Order: sequence, then structure tokens, then C-alpha cells
Amino acid sequence: MLLHLSTWQEIDEHLKKSKAILIPIGSTEQHGPNGFLGTDALCPEIIARAAAQQTDMLIAPTFSVGCAQHHLAFSGTITLRPSTMIAAMQDWSASLVRHGFEKLYWFNGHGGNTATVSAAFSEIYAERSFSREKKNDGDLAQKLRNWWELPGVYNLCQDIYPAGDGMHATASEVAVTYAAYPEAIKTVEMSPKIAPIGEIRDAEHYRRSFPDGRIGSDPSQATPEDGARIITAAASALAKEFAAFATA
Ligand code: NI
Repeated sequence: MLLHLSTWQEIDEHLKKSKAILIPIGSTEQHGPNGFLGTDALCPEIIARAAAQQTDMLIAPTFSVGCAQHHLAFSGTITLRPSTMIAAMQDWSASLVRHGFEKLYWFNGHGGNTATVSAAFSEIYAERSFSREKKNDGDLAQKLRNWWELPGVYNLCQDIYPAGDGMHATASEVAVTYAAYPEAIKTVEMSPKIAPIGEIRDAEHYRRSFPDGRIGSDPSQATPEDGARIITAAASALAKEFAAFATA
């Protein structure tokens, strides 16, 4: 069930049986020569929608712009500062809590978000702890899960791409988006075949270190068929984990 295609009455009804919601969270940033700028927002959205066919799951709109300052030397990238992202997550969370949601499952597609998401959780919990009035509110549990860390998913991606899955613009994330949007697939030859690896600093340093945007990957291996396998595995692991979180 998608929040943005529901009415307020339907959300009221949903809240009578479940106080849990999944929020896909990602980034809008370059993903090398053949990956979509939306890759990190699309992957959790695609997997969550597949999981929602297996279990009762309310999906929030995708928090689709995250922490991507290091990609800003590539056109199309949009970023929030960590402080802005924390503030935005506080407002999303406070809005949902006001309606009675008590379990927020942030389903993430971008490694660069994790530190900021954890800091946002700490801010949100701290605000509740400082406020005496909040002591009568319901409980609040927030969870962060990176899609590639769901049980079984990392190993499957390694099996499919033993070489060149990589760290950024990975073959597996590109495959997931290709499975969902085959009409937008790009065919590009990679040079070098497998991209360099190294440290991430600011945008200009990144562009010098990783000229076409990839880190350690050869995403020309990505196919929609591989993506479909990854989505199936990730969706069933997510359905199980979300159901356990929602009923804990
Ligand atoms: Ni990515």
C-alpha cells in the first residue's frame, strides 16, 4: 500500500491494525556512465514495492535526495547538507508520529546516508528524551536497513558478479534499476573495465580520483535478468524483516 496513492481515511484504517511504515530513502547522484542518477532512490523503492506484494506494508513517499556532496562535480547530482537532511528527517518523522505511527523503517539505498541517518535518529530520540510532555506519547522505534545488507542479498550479488560489483555504481544496483526500467537501459563500454578504488573527500577530489564516477565497479555487466533475481531475494528478506519489526 502506497501512502501517496491512499486517502487519509485509508491511513486512519491502516493505523488501527499497524503503526509501522516503511520509508524508502536514497540519493539523487551520478552513477557512472550507464547508471541512472536516481539509482539509490529507485532500488529501495523497487524492492519495497515487490515486498509489499508479500506482506502488509505501508510505503511512504521516497526520501529521494540525500548526502551526495562528493558527487557534485557530476551534472544532475542534487544533495542535502547533513544538517539539512537531519532536519528534514526530523520533520518527516514528527509528521508520521503525530498520526500515530510508532515504527519507522528507513529502507536505504545509499551508503553515504548512513552516518547522517544515524545522527538523525539520535536527534529525534534526544528531542523526545528532553521533553517531559512527550512522556505520554506512544513508543517510537526507528530502524535503518541498507537493501544490500538484507540477509542473503550480499552473497547473491557476489555470486552473480564475482568481479567488479564494486563500491559505487555497482553492477548489482544498476541491474535492479534495469529490471524495473528496461526502457531506459544504456549500453556503454567501460574504460578501464573495472574502476579504481580510493578515498572519498570533496567533489573535485572525487572527480579527479574517479573520472567517470564509478568506484571499483564494472556495471556494464548489469542485466535486467540479474536485477530480477536480486529484487526477488531482497523483497522476500525485506518482507520477513519488516513484518517482524512491525509486530515486535
Ligand atoms: Ni548507489
